[in-house]
Amino acid sequence: MEKSTQINHPILPLLETRKSIRAFASTPVEQEKLNSIFEAARWSFSTSNQQPWRFIYAHKNQPLWQNIFDTLMDGNKPWNQHAPVLILALATKSMSNGNNYYYNLHDLGAATMAMNLQAVSLGLQLHPMAGFHKDKAIELLNIPDSLTPATVLALGYPGQDLSALNEFQQKSETTRGERFLQEEFVFNSKL
Ligand SMILES: Cc1cc2nc3c(=O)[nH]c(=O)nc-3n(C[C@H](O)[C@H](O)[C@H](O)COP(=O)(O)O)c2cc1C
Repeated sequence: MEKSTQINHPILPLLETRKSIRAFASTPVEQEKLNSIFEAARWSFSTSNQQPWRFIYAHKNQPLWQNIFDTLMDGNKPWNQHAPVLILALATKSMSNGNNYYYNLHDLGAATMAMNLQAVSLGLQLHPMAGFHKDKAIELLNIPDSLTPATVLALGYPGQDLSALNEFQQKSETTRGERFLQEEFVFNSKL
């Protein structure tokens, strides 16, 4: 499968600028901007408008921030020490009629992408992580059985200090990730 770092067709500048950065500035995120980011989730599409997303967030100066941080896996801890906001993203497991919500993570993912683009438009970056202990999150944050912990999102302004990043992470901070060519995943034919 062929990959490249080139953008081969024009895309929205927001999509071009979005990047899962790991070096955050220590600058706090304004609550107004955070409200806009959650508002972007609010206006996302979802199956039968079920809106499965739930978020627990904390600014770095709040004790709750440490609770979210403590759920992170070791590989994610060093660079998250400087994340000004940590957000736990959760999805409801059932539809409002009690049926299993098959598309809950799909819909939550779409909402977090909307949040991501809103964040970029405000000069911020949002980095999603699956690398956290779900059982710890359930215990430390009183998550009821009706919700699936999906990702932890790190939010902040881009920073310059790469000292908390390992070699691989430092390289990835300054380069664009490779992508498969469209030929590998777009088909105008039967498979
Ligand atoms: C669901 C999900 C889980 C991820 N988990 C982690 C993680 O635990 N740690 C990490 O450093 N990056 C994580 N990432 C970021 C990806 O590595 C990143 O999106 C990918 O390398 C593409 O880079 P880009 O987002 O900068 O374009 C995750 C991304 C997603 C969508």
